Amino acid sequence: MRIHSTSSMGLPREIPAGSGPVVICGHTFKAGDVLSVPSYTIHRSKEIWGADAEKFVPERWSPERLTARQKAAFIPFSHGPRACVGRNVAEMELLVICATVFRLFEFEMHQDGPMETREGFLRKPLGLQVGVQD
Ligand code: HEM
Repeated sequence: MRIHSTSSMGLPREIPAGSGPVVICGHTFKAGDVLSVPSYTIHRSKEIWGADAEKFVPERWSPERLTARQKAAFIPFSHGPRACVGRNVAEMELLVICATVFRLFEFEMHQDGPMETREGFLRKPLGLQVGVQD
């Protein structure tokens, strides 16, 4: 969910008329400006995750290695009051589905090269060849 965030750029949120200006990370935004939470960029920041930010390294999540900044920067369900309302359902589904599927089946990659994706609110995989065996 870090490397292949379901949502890569978040939903656009407009600062309503009569609000603002707001200052975020030293940048000033006024009413009418449109902001979103860029999960893809934050999840791949070398400044936060280190030089191997692009790599899948499960050990990075061990409590001894994970920094407080990394913990706060893992935001697949976005951040703030308009973050995903389905988070608890989704986390429960992910746990049950992944545990069941990986217990019952063996998977094998049948593709050379990276998985192509289409960017949008949802980061959609365009295809991945895998073999499944029970
Ligand atoms: C792995 C699964 C899921 C992921 C990664 C995910 C992620 C997200 C993200 C990033 C947002 C946008 C927040 C923003 O930037 O403004 C969002 C919004 C939302 N999600 Fe999910 N979501 C997931 C599953 C679900 C499920 C299962 C439901 C419903 C049961 C759901 C309902 C919603 C709704 C209603 C919003 C809009 C919230 C608002 O505009 O206030 N999501 N989700």
